[in-house]
Amino acid sequence: MTDAVTRVLFVCLGNICRSPTADAVLRLWVQERGLAGHIRVDSCGTAGWHVGKPPDPRSVAAARERGYDLSPLRARQLCWEDYFDFDYMLAMDESNLEILRREAPLDYAGHIGLLLDFAPQAPEREVPDPYYGDGGGFVRVLELVEAANEGLLAEIGRRERS
Ligand code: 4NP
Repeated sequence: MTDAVTRVLFVCLGNICRSPTADAVLRLWVQERGLAGHIRVDSCGTAGWHVGKPPDPRSVAAARERGYDLSPLRARQLCWEDYFDFDYMLAMDESNLEILRREAPLDYAGHIGLLLDFAPQAPEREVPDPYYGDGGGFVRVLELVEAANEGLLAEIGRRERS
């Protein structure tokens, strides 16, 4: 790998369920795989309803079961500077992708797309919002996020080597 730093931002609606989960999973893997100097990770929401709040306790509990710690994270809202600070801006679903694209500077040179584009083997194209569901959705979020983050790390590795 080169000395370049790749910066990844996960984006959902509230920044208390899906994007903090993706954030904590990739953050841990980056540390465990000795990539901390190469990849930076953050997350945000397109809505501001939960700004400053910790992740949803159901997301925290589901992630803890699989060894991920969401507890230090706090919700924040997407801002203009994010387009200058991140190379990958990855939305959990089409509606948040549309907002990301609509707000982007015309000359944004990074990658804006769906997180699950990095998990082509998954049947879903969007990470389903678990917030109003019966609780089972939180485990599915983790499965999808793990699959996509593996694909994302492989892609970043390939790009760094090219
Ligand atoms: P997230 O889930 O976008 O994955 O954080 C949601 C969190 C909160 C709400 C909706 C979705 N809400 O309506 O407050």
